[in-house]
Amino acid sequence: MRAAAGLALCAALFAIAAPARAAADKALGEYLASECTSCHQLSGRSTGGIPAIIGWPEPQFVAVLESYGRKERDNQVMQAIVARLSHDDMAALAAYFGALKPKP
Ligand code: HEC
Repeated sequence: MRAAAGLALCAALFAIAAPARAAADKALGEYLASECTSCHQLSGRSTGGIPAIIGWPEPQFVAVLESYGRKERDNQVMQAIVARLSHDDMAALAAYFGALKPKP
């Protein structure tokens, strides 16, 4: 009986914590994004050789950033930016940019 109640409580806490965490990540992503949007357009337009980065699947976004981090992708600007990001930062940025829709 006690164990069952404990389990139910755990499940309830998890159900509350999961969406809250996703929301926090996105908020962090929006905060961090100010560093990106001086180059990358929030509208999703590519300008002057700077590619659009919105609406991507999150794992793909993180994988691309990591490939700059490992210097597999060769771009000094992006390598320097990614070097300052933690994995959580990258995930947060992926959540934020991934949820944006291109504007016409
Ligand atoms: C000083 C300008 C600048 C800033 C600031 C900047 N980027 Fe970039 N970013 C670029 C350029 C230029 C490229 C294209 C590099 C290449 O050819 O590999 C790029 C490429 C990318 C790509 C790969 C796009 C693709 O289509 O392959 C991603 C993802 C990305 N940036 C994310 C970010 C994020 C996230 C931030 C902020 C933390 C950021 N960038 C900040 C200039 C910038």
